[in-house]
Amino acid sequence: MTPQGPQPHQPPEPTAPAPAEPLLTRDYDANPAQVHARLRDTYGAVAPVDLLGVPVWFVMGYEEVLRVLQNAGGVWSKHPDRWKAHAEGRIPADWPLLPVFQVNNSTFQEGAAQQQLRNAWTSALAPFQDHGHPQAQQLEQAVARHADDLIAVLAEGGTTGQADLAAQYARPLPLMVADRMLGFTAGRGEDVVMDIWRLIDAGADEATALERLHAAMTELGAAKREHPGDDLPSYLIAAKPDITLDELARELLMLPGLLDFTASLVCNVVVEVATNPDVRESLSTGAIDETINRVALLNPPMANLTFRYALTEVKLGGRTIAAGDPVMLSVAAAHQDPRFAGAIDWNAIRTTRAHLAWGAGPHNCLGRLLATRITAIAVHRLFKRMSKVKLALPADQLPWRPSPFMRALRSLPIQYELAPAPPTTAPTPAPPTPEAPPPTEPADRPSRSPLWTFLRGLRRPR
Ligand code: HEM
Repeated sequence: MTPQGPQPHQPPEPTAPAPAEPLLTRDYDANPAQVHARLRDTYGAVAPVDLLGVPVWFVMGYEEVLRVLQNAGGVWSKHPDRWKAHAEGRIPADWPLLPVFQVNNSTFQEGAAQQQLRNAWTSALAPFQDHGHPQAQQLEQAVARHADDLIAVLAEGGTTGQADLAAQYARPLPLMVADRMLGFTAGRGEDVVMDIWRLIDAGADEATALERLHAAMTELGAAKREHPGDDLPSYLIAAKPDITLDELARELLMLPGLLDFTASLVCNVVVEVATNPDVRESLSTGAIDETINRVALLNPPMANLTFRYALTEVKLGGRTIAAGDPVMLSVAAAHQDPRFAGAIDWNAIRTTRAHLAWGAGPHNCLGRLLATRITAIAVHRLFKRMSKVKLALPADQLPWRPSPFMRALRSLPIQYELAPAPPTTAPTPAPPTPEAPPPTEPADRPSRSPLWTFLRGLRRPR
């Protein structure tokens, strides 16, 4: 099924009862928790909101979010064809979020179509996520090496200084992972990484960047069909041999976005470690996975999910959702729901794993292990190489990227001090996070390529 393209503009009619108040305000960017609390007081677990001019049900109750995610009665669909206002042409063609719902990848499929693509993702990701697989071990070593390279570049010229850890570390690192997993030939991958950056930052050349990216992914898929390698496109083709090049390109285009959520998790964990001495102490005892879980619970990077549509009239949180109405599930608000948050023992050594940061039910995250692993290595290397990481702004003044879906820092300004001597390779048999091996592949570490030149350009004057 293909979602319908943009329809001619007609004034939107509310599909949710008035009053629907705008969700994405300055208050929301600065402090979403406060907005959630106010909406919850006014409307309860499910609020009618206006999302950039489009009426949507905003679901904030933990039980309600979980119930829709689990979709036990099969009453919810993610397919935009089920969106009544969209089908009836009541969504403006220039609605800024429309492209998100038109990408037509597995995330927006249902039934057999979704299951087949999900199975393909599961087997294609396994070599990268299964810790015993050589591919996973090589990837982990590459992440550690890229992390060290990025730290070396931002610290060029001195052992102390200032840096923006979002732009200079957390965001490029997962994109380098994407480059590696996609199996581009040397050089080509960097062009693609730069385009992905433009796309994620929605810069002036966003539209052309997307076209170039789709073309690059199609070309990559065709090359991998001819000459398979040890990479994600080849594994996806092997798992679903009838996948078309267009379908494959759409699936591959998901990867950079998913890895950008990982970048946001890295930033959020760094803030938590830098501002909380107990958490920093726990890092040295190897409790990094617990720190990541705690941060995913407190500040989930995928804060709100793309819509589900009611297939039939359904009651949710005391509201009646009409067939074809969209609901936006707020993971962040669900985690703040007093019925859930109030039952958590925040002093426990292990925080609850019953949170929804990785989704739940038929669309739950397939890359959780990978995202957690990359984050653990990134944070481990950073705090190993830097003896001081101090936020350059109070934590409550850090700038957030305005976004309806993600909770990500726009920048993460820090003051740092490098550790006296770079750590040497530790010959531990099964390290919790890998050390970067010595550079055995010089070609893998371009120093004058456009990407590294760009990264050098981000260095802060002392
Ligand atoms: C911190 C980083 C990440 C977070 C917080 C995250 C979270 C999530 C969540 C909440 C969903 C469910 C979306 C929904 O139900 O509407 C999801 C879906 C998904 N995630 Fe992740 N994810 C992350 C990274 C990744 C990575 C790195 C990969 C793969 C390389 C990945 C692969 C997927 C896939 C394939 C789906 C779609 C599953 C489906 O629709 O059947 N994720 N993710």
